[in-house]
Amino acid sequence: MVDKNDASNYRKVLEKRICKNKNIFDKYTSELRFITLDFKFLSYLRSILIFSEMKIDLTHINPFLEKDIVNELESRVPATYETIYKKTGAGNDFLGWVNLPSEIDENLLADIEKTAADLRKKSEIFVVVGIGGSYLGARAVIEALQNHFAPLAGEKPLIVYAGHNMSEDYLHDLMAVLDKKDYSLAVISKSGTTTEPAIAFRILKQHIINKYGEAEAASRIVAITDKAKGALKQLANVKGYKTYIVPDDVGGRFSVLTPVGLLPIAVAGIDIRALVKGAVEMEKQCKANPNKDNIVSQYAVARQALYAQGLTNEIMVNYEPRLVYFSEWWKQLYGESHGKQHKGIFPASVTFSTDLHSMGQYIQDGLRNLFETVISVENSNYELRIPNESEDLDQLNYIAGKRISEVNHKAELGTVLAHEDGGVPNLRIVIPEVSACVLGELIYFFEMACAVSGYMLDVNPFDQPGVEAYKKNMFALLGKKGFEEQTAALNKRLNL
Ligand code: PA5
Repeated sequence: MVDKNDASNYRKVLEKRICKNKNIFDKYTSELRFITLDFKFLSYLRSILIFSEMKIDLTHINPFLEKDIVNELESRVPATYETIYKKTGAGNDFLGWVNLPSEIDENLLADIEKTAADLRKKSEIFVVVGIGGSYLGARAVIEALQNHFAPLAGEKPLIVYAGHNMSEDYLHDLMAVLDKKDYSLAVISKSGTTTEPAIAFRILKQHIINKYGEAEAASRIVAITDKAKGALKQLANVKGYKTYIVPDDVGGRFSVLTPVGLLPIAVAGIDIRALVKGAVEMEKQCKANPNKDNIVSQYAVARQALYAQGLTNEIMVNYEPRLVYFSEWWKQLYGESHGKQHKGIFPASVTFSTDLHSMGQYIQDGLRNLFETVISVENSNYELRIPNESEDLDQLNYIAGKRISEVNHKAELGTVLAHEDGGVPNLRIVIPEVSACVLGELIYFFEMACAVSGYMLDVNPFDQPGVEAYKKNMFALLGKKGFEEQTAALNKRLNL
């Protein structure tokens, strides 16, 4: 039997280190009562308990993979990691995210936590102004961890978003709400010049100043941007806003573990240290084994092999609606990193079982150019069982007493098999729970896999030259100085 003091000390160690999932924590710590305390065993238990539960299941993809293609890709894995760690590949000045989790400055974390606590105290609403990589990471984590009905459940502050579209009606409705609530905001733009957040911020800046006056408004605005460049930096300096810097060597879509993601996530009341800790563990796993058998490589190789075999669409599947924005973050990461030189897998996403009643038909039976990556969540945070009814008019008694999550898992497994039978390879990434710590692991997992498969595809995963095309046209059509020639040409094409 474990000595009571040892058990309670151990519990404290666990509490400090792990993601705060009550189910898993209680399950394993209660087992401690029945085992003999042995330091080595406890260390082992702690390591599997905390981080090694994320698994990759290739069972339903292996039958589709062509061995020689896989072998060829696997043979390139060690050199690909070397390219990343030694910074010798394309875009190597944007590899700051590689060591970021383990190198995050304690003072920065403490400062973010303090700012977040101050903003939480005085805000019923917190507005995150940003687009693309300057907003999706924060939203992915916040929506994964907050109450599904946050506005109705009275979560405070409620996190809302702006600057990710240019809808007049959206901003109108947002301001109508902000008229009646206490709020603060973060304006996030690495370049400091992106049109969508710049417009939203100009509007919201006026609103917040009108509401609180210049001085109080300034204390409610945080700017997160480049250390020197860009209009936002100049503005923040002049107005005296609290400012956080986006590191030069971290691109937008890889920036969720910088203040870009961490500040809004902390304002939402989420434990950013647990998030970072999860990422640190995955960073360590990759560094300890930069080979074909680590889970990152297995994912990268499998998707690139399927792509080489003609499957050009990857669908990220989840069975938890709280992961919808995690898929949005993933779509940006992969779409913007790989879709260039007329190459790359098209990333799409669905939420099952909802979309089994819509997109399910296509996936089962449509054009066979797809594969699925399923994020499978082993444990729900709450328990809810299907009640028994003596009349059984709805004929559900055959599953009475079962947890909803059990039914959901059977739907998942049934779907995986059906889609496999329909010719759609299914790769499963199995996570123990949705918690800050596990999300940190997943974030780093997908970032590293994105770099590895991007280099295998032979593109620069860290630039995005394609997004300039629409901007140039928009500026020309808006009559921006310097675009006169394009303005005339585009107006002619549009008969304007
Ligand atoms: O990943 C990227 O680089 C982009 O998606 C950017 O994050 C997005 O365009 C926003 O840019 P910025 O942060 O400069 O406003």
